[in-house]
Amino acid sequence: MKKYSLYLVAILGSVLFLSGCGDQNGKASSNGALASNNAEKVYVAPGEHDEFYAFMSGGYSGNVAVYGLPSGRMFKEIPVFSQFPTNGYGYSEETKPMLETSFGFIPADDSHHPDISQTNGELDGRWLFINGNNTPRIARIDLKTFETAEIIEVPNSAGNHSSSYITENSEYVVAGTRFSVPIPQRDMPIKDYKGNFKGALSFISVEPETGSMDIKFQLIMPGFNYDLSHPGRGKSHGWFFFTTYNTEEANSLLEVNASQNDKDFIAAVNWKKIEEYVENGGGTMVPANYTHNVYSDETHSATSTMKKEVLTVDPTKVPGAIFFMPTPKSPHGVDVNPTGDYIVGNGKLSADLTVFSFDKMIAAIDGKKFDGEAYGLPILKFEDVLAGQVKSGGLGPLHTEFDGQGNAYTTFFISSEVVKWKVGTWEVIDRKPTFYSVGHCMIPGGNSRKPFGKYLVSMNKITKDRYLPTGPELEHSAQLYDISGDKMELIYDFPTHGEPHYAAAIPASILAPKSQKIYKLAENEHPFATKNVSDARIVHDGNEVHVYMAMIRSHFTPDNIEGIKVGDKVYFHITNHEQDFDVPHGFMMIGQKNSGLLIMPGQTKTSVWEPKQEGVWPFYCTDFCSALHQEMQGYVRVSPAKSNIDLSWSLGE
Ligand code: CUA
Repeated sequence: MKKYSLYLVAILGSVLFLSGCGDQNGKASSNGALASNNAEKVYVAPGEHDEFYAFMSGGYSGNVAVYGLPSGRMFKEIPVFSQFPTNGYGYSEETKPMLETSFGFIPADDSHHPDISQTNGELDGRWLFINGNNTPRIARIDLKTFETAEIIEVPNSAGNHSSSYITENSEYVVAGTRFSVPIPQRDMPIKDYKGNFKGALSFISVEPETGSMDIKFQLIMPGFNYDLSHPGRGKSHGWFFFTTYNTEEANSLLEVNASQNDKDFIAAVNWKKIEEYVENGGGTMVPANYTHNVYSDETHSATSTMKKEVLTVDPTKVPGAIFFMPTPKSPHGVDVNPTGDYIVGNGKLSADLTVFSFDKMIAAIDGKKFDGEAYGLPILKFEDVLAGQVKSGGLGPLHTEFDGQGNAYTTFFISSEVVKWKVGTWEVIDRKPTFYSVGHCMIPGGNSRKPFGKYLVSMNKITKDRYLPTGPELEHSAQLYDISGDKMELIYDFPTHGEPHYAAAIPASILAPKSQKIYKLAENEHPFATKNVSDARIVHDGNEVHVYMAMIRSHFTPDNIEGIKVGDKVYFHITNHEQDFDVPHGFMMIGQKNSGLLIMPGQTKTSVWEPKQEGVWPFYCTDFCSALHQEMQGYVRVSPAKSNIDLSWSLGE
């Protein structure tokens, strides 16, 4: 324990040292001949488009932000797990069900690791998956509309961190628990953790045509912390690799108590074998409550369904499916190279990288050469599966990406740098500082069979002096490196919103042509849609009032409403009749307790308003839609609860 404390002190010292003297490299390129060269590399002229879309997780924003590369320009924030007043997501009646969970309505989360769907191990650009870490959920974003299409809650999980990574034909999106917990949850002493808590690894099937998600099975693993994961690909397709830490199963002061073992494990899971087992009737269906929330582009509405059971698998019942590979110094990331030959373990308290060989792993398994077991699961011998070690000279390796040219790039948090090394010879080729304390890095397609190895983005945890100060709270700093040559070149800094843990990027040429421009009004199946202006009306139903409203440049139909009473609950169901690209209208009503709405062409959205005071109250369009945008407004007359004023509505009378 003492030795570890000293080690941590040394680590901390080096962080301060590096942060203190970092400027020399970071600013060297901001003037002189090199700078203009670099400027050209990131310059996207007015009206020109970026080469890549980058999807950065928003961390505690709960969302995903879309950036262009190389410009670093932010195009959109996609609301996923959090309410988003900018467009009404999670506030409108249609989208509230997206945020339903077994804990009730949860309007925020911590989003970590986006991953783009793949076919044959290559990015296909259909969907983006991302995990909610805090209240365990996986979301699927439709990359035609850039909207969240589906969210499934993950039961028996807590700290959904080793997520969301997809297999090479998008057969599964995989979600692993960071915290082990009692399964099923129950009242028990925390000190009885060891041997009693369990870690669930969830394999969520993805329907090949629609993308629809369903939990196929949950592996109920020993009570370690499951930190990150990646699928095998190519020859290792059919396997999934998870890092663990806290194999000590400590429940307090993990900083010290979870760093006792020199090695934790990478769990190698043969999911094809388990799939076969469950398809032959294996596994145990157990009660569980979790929501499945689905958004429809036809009804422009989401539904939330509570699921009641989940199929669990005891890994000891499937011999030959799960093996542990001892990995030094509390591994964090686990990454698989494009050919699927190598599995890289990034021991976050070490200087060296451990690389395992898939072939050696299979040979050791076939030869039954085990080094004991943990909870009945065989442990492979470190030396038998080791392919090589990268003597990096850095400290604190976290994550590795690949360029498709036989090179790997590993981020080092403690020594604050990116190190480029050669897969197979393990020699370090280049290293460049980051500013400061890099977490993940990302190369477009860098965790697929076909990376686009032109740029690397480092996602840095500490910003300090990189931008003009904005008070104590700073946006995080991303840095763009040109990796097309032998040496990496730092060419650009740009701020990112929330805390981007990981990112996924794809050539714009794959996505942009498919991007949807409008919703067709004729195909609008919303039950409260007003598809013809002549259908605009108001329906009283008890104390509920349903306003069927249409909007087009530059008026609402109707725009004068009378006969609303104090105590009524007024639903404004508003349909945007525009059928041109990029002509949304907005809606806000004085005293409205929800956010406003931003309604896309052809779409219907609903806002609820509960008038508390009599009077005449205005509403208006919030999006500057035409020269007569300011004229796009209306009034609601609210009368006393007992008044006998009839409901009436009009436009232009
Ligand atoms: Cu419609 Cu402004």
